[in-house]
Amino acid sequence: MLVVLKKDYEEVSREAARIVAAAVRSNPAIVLGLATGNTPLGLYTELIDLYRAGTLDFSRATTFNLDEYLGVPHSHPQSYHTFMDQHFFSHVNFSRQSTHIPDGSITRDYDSYCAFYEASIKTAGGIDLQILGIGRNGHIGFNEPTSSLASRTRLKALSRETIEDSRHLFGNESEMPKCAITMGIGTILDSRRILLLASGRSKAAAVAKAIEGPITSSVSASALQMHPDVTFIIDEEAGYSLTQRDYYRHVLEMTKIFTPERLS
Ligand code: PGA
Repeated sequence: MLVVLKKDYEEVSREAARIVAAAVRSNPAIVLGLATGNTPLGLYTELIDLYRAGTLDFSRATTFNLDEYLGVPHSHPQSYHTFMDQHFFSHVNFSRQSTHIPDGSITRDYDSYCAFYEASIKTAGGIDLQILGIGRNGHIGFNEPTSSLASRTRLKALSRETIEDSRHLFGNESEMPKCAITMGIGTILDSRRILLLASGRSKAAAVAKAIEGPITSSVSASALQMHPDVTFIIDEEAGYSLTQRDYYRHVLEMTKIFTPERLS
């Protein structure tokens, strides 16, 4: 596990974009796992700029998003379909058949739909590079605390904390989704490489538990400790509660010298 400590959100976004851009250039047919939320917005803006500058091409890439609210039509302003279109897809050159987001508008056969989403990832060759944010409660995707660390794509009831964090986006209580379709923790751990981005003091406790705490289903992101190629890119505020910051900086210096490919 690499922990890259950056000054602020802009630096986090730039470093993440540098890594994603290098991965796309070295494998144009890459399969990317994508996230929504405030955290990856800066990353997407940077990638759009690189595309516009003519230095990045997504035409052969495939994407799978982590999650989508259940019961929310694609055209809803707060759907993750709308989010991805507005903030990324409509600005770059993915082929539309190659972008996948769980379908939150389904009303039956949930298990078979989730199995189909899993199978689509497998058919595409598996996820090469997964982007993650982290919730205040340590969730990744919508894998709320106590999710099985072996879970696959499925319906998940949203936690009180997640509902509170998202309520302002929906008009009133009755419109706020109560469930989501999300890749499982097992699905995420199958990715070949994982980048988790975090910014701000509100994430400090979750980040510290994920990196330095015990592996526990109470903190879904702690499962990432079991993955061989995870990089946390976090700003000073999000890293505030880490106890080993000097060691992570030392590890990074040594990585630059001995295994720089892990940072490219
Ligand atoms: P945020 O959400 O990026 O909007 O903070 C992250 C998450 O809940 O996974």
